[in-house]
Amino acid sequence: MQWSQEEEETAKGKAAENSLIRVQPELQAKYEREASRYWNEFYKIHKNHFFKDRKWLFVEFPEIIPEGKSDRCRKAITENLRCTGLLEDNHLCEDNSAPKVSSVLSACYDNSAADEQIVKSTGKQFPGGDSSYRILEVGCGAGNSVFPILEVIRHHPGVFLYCCDFASEAVELIKSHPLIDSSRCFAFVHDVCDDASPYPFPDGSLDVILLIFVLSSVHPDRIQGVVNGLARLLKPGGMILFRDYGRYDASQLRFKKGRCLSENFYVRGDGTRAYFFTKDEIHSIFSSAGLTEVQNLLDRRLQVNRKKKVKIHRVWIQGKFQKQGELTQE
Ligand SMILES: C[S@@+](CC[C@H](N)C(=O)[O-])C[C@H]1O[C@@H](n2cnc3c(N)ncnc32)[C@H](O)[C@@H]1O
Repeated sequence: MQWSQEEEETAKGKAAENSLIRVQPELQAKYEREASRYWNEFYKIHKNHFFKDRKWLFVEFPEIIPEGKSDRCRKAITENLRCTGLLEDNHLCEDNSAPKVSSVLSACYDNSAADEQIVKSTGKQFPGGDSSYRILEVGCGAGNSVFPILEVIRHHPGVFLYCCDFASEAVELIKSHPLIDSSRCFAFVHDVCDDASPYPFPDGSLDVILLIFVLSSVHPDRIQGVVNGLARLLKPGGMILFRDYGRYDASQLRFKKGRCLSENFYVRGDGTRAYFFTKDEIHSIFSSAGLTEVQNLLDRRLQVNRKKKVKIHRVWIQGKFQKQGELTQE
């Protein structure tokens, strides 16, 4: 939906007002230093009950799996979901659609993308090293994207999923889940801001990196470094798929005075933080990391809570960014 000029001005005014008082520098430093501890506490309290499963994932990001990168297959997936009534307004219905989605997707599967180049060139074994297609979810939390992805990729031999988070509590929730299959998935603790900490796979080995509501938790001064580092992990042709909070989302405007860290960056009552992006910022960050923009859109919606009789304006940014170049064939 479009905002009227009046709505835009009201939102700007609210953000300006709740940014008037900034958090003290010593406290700001503590939130940064102890960021993983605050998220750990969050998962100790909420376990895997806070975020909903990202059932829209394969509609918005068919590129997660190899065949979703082809237009023909993307159309087939969308049409099939629409015909079976699983897709309304381009979003999956909130029912148990994942198994049905996976059966639609498996019909499109083409197992021709075998790529053992990385293993051969590095001579090293690593988890998922013998897979032909590798996905990484950064900041995976309790697995709200991980489990829908695992449900789909179990029909796709050769696809391997890595997932990491700096909150060890979250990673434990994933590792101890009965659906985790170590031959298809590797979960590990990793701070994406820590350049010195290695990944369990070499640079240039990933087809897809998912960033779902995670960059907003990172200090704005560190976001560029994070994206530069992630771009190095992609194969040529690989993609970063991004979805996160947009500027003036209802959750930004709800912050009370005294929670603002810096412009458009806030701390919640539990010590976790959130930044609110514009499309231009996202374009600049991913282009500066050497990636080509395939999609960068503003998703504005009016959410109606009939029980509470309130309407709220949600704003998200969604983007797809690709590393240029072709894989050389051996
Ligand atoms: C809002 S949650 C989103 C979780 C998940 N992506 C989802 O969509 O449900 C943000 C997640 O990012 C993780 N995170 C924040 N900063 C991180 C960092 N520097 N390195 C790794 N994970 C981080 C947090 O622990 C948390 O699990």
